[in-house]
Amino acid sequence: MKKSDVIKTLLNHRYVYTENTSGSAFAPANIALCKYWGKRDIELNLPVTSSLSVSLGEKGAHTTVSLINASEDKIRINEEDITLDTQIAKRLIEFLDLFRSNTEMHFAIDTKINIPMSAGLASSACSFAALIQALDQLFSWQLDRINLSILARLGSGSACRSLWDGFVKWHAGKEEDGMDSFAELLPYEWPHLCVGLLVISDQPKPISSREAMQKTVNTSCYYKSWPEKVKTDLEVLQEAIASRDFDLFGSVAESNALAMHASMLTANPPILYWLPETVAMMHQIWKKRAEGLPIYFTQDAGPNLKLLFLKTDIEQVKKTFPEIKIIMPFEKH
Ligand code: PMV
Repeated sequence: MKKSDVIKTLLNHRYVYTENTSGSAFAPANIALCKYWGKRDIELNLPVTSSLSVSLGEKGAHTTVSLINASEDKIRINEEDITLDTQIAKRLIEFLDLFRSNTEMHFAIDTKINIPMSAGLASSACSFAALIQALDQLFSWQLDRINLSILARLGSGSACRSLWDGFVKWHAGKEEDGMDSFAELLPYEWPHLCVGLLVISDQPKPISSREAMQKTVNTSCYYKSWPEKVKTDLEVLQEAIASRDFDLFGSVAESNALAMHASMLTANPPILYWLPETVAMMHQIWKKRAEGLPIYFTQDAGPNLKLLFLKTDIEQVKKTFPEIKIIMPFEKH
């Protein structure tokens, strides 16, 4: 099954003609609390397991996509023109290829992202989620969010969770065409929940998450136990969210992230995103927790940590980590 088959099923050639010249949308970044790590279908970004995330409110991507009279696409990110042979441009162009009705059709993408890019802070997720909603507007598809989530997944797996604010679950699904592999909003809010970004490095990562996860699936002896771990973690996380049991919530999220990194470490060759500062920060978090401050962390495919804590502890957290950037995912903006 190819991406273009999914497009045919969902859009049925509705992208051939539009009277609009542009479409714009915002999508939040999301942080996985139970990670997506490993694909059962590489072409369609179908995951081995389900996953669960929280969106980062107004941190994310604003994207405008326009049809242009030009011989090639134009990509602008944060006021900078991006050369078309860069990794990010190639991925965006490949995604846009799915929606061209002819080879003459070219797009301009103008994106403003207000989180550090390529540093494991989920910038590709919000980029593809914003882009698919902007395309939906440009072509007047009027697709519902579930279908947009399926299309966003074709750009980047975790993008399918960036269609909503709040807690979002991506159902792994079983179908070969991935029509049952989409994300969905969970009906819970947690107004006092805070996510703190501890940016240790904003340099591009040495190995992309897509490459790292495939290497892990193919070579790590620990990967076999990952689906079982996720199954339990997902259940417990949802219980913790429903009952607002913060210690349970934080400890499952932290343990899930560490298990993902353990699976990478046992890949061949090993993959380690941690920097010495990452480890030092972990020790500091564990020390503070032992002293009674309820803080936990999660970590994606990069050296940076995301702290999880409650509003009541903001001052203490700021004192301990003065450089922290705090986001309240459920604060209305
Ligand atoms: O969607 P991708 O290919 O950027 O992969 C995301 C992988 C993690 O961020 C490490 C985990 C996740 O669930 O977001």
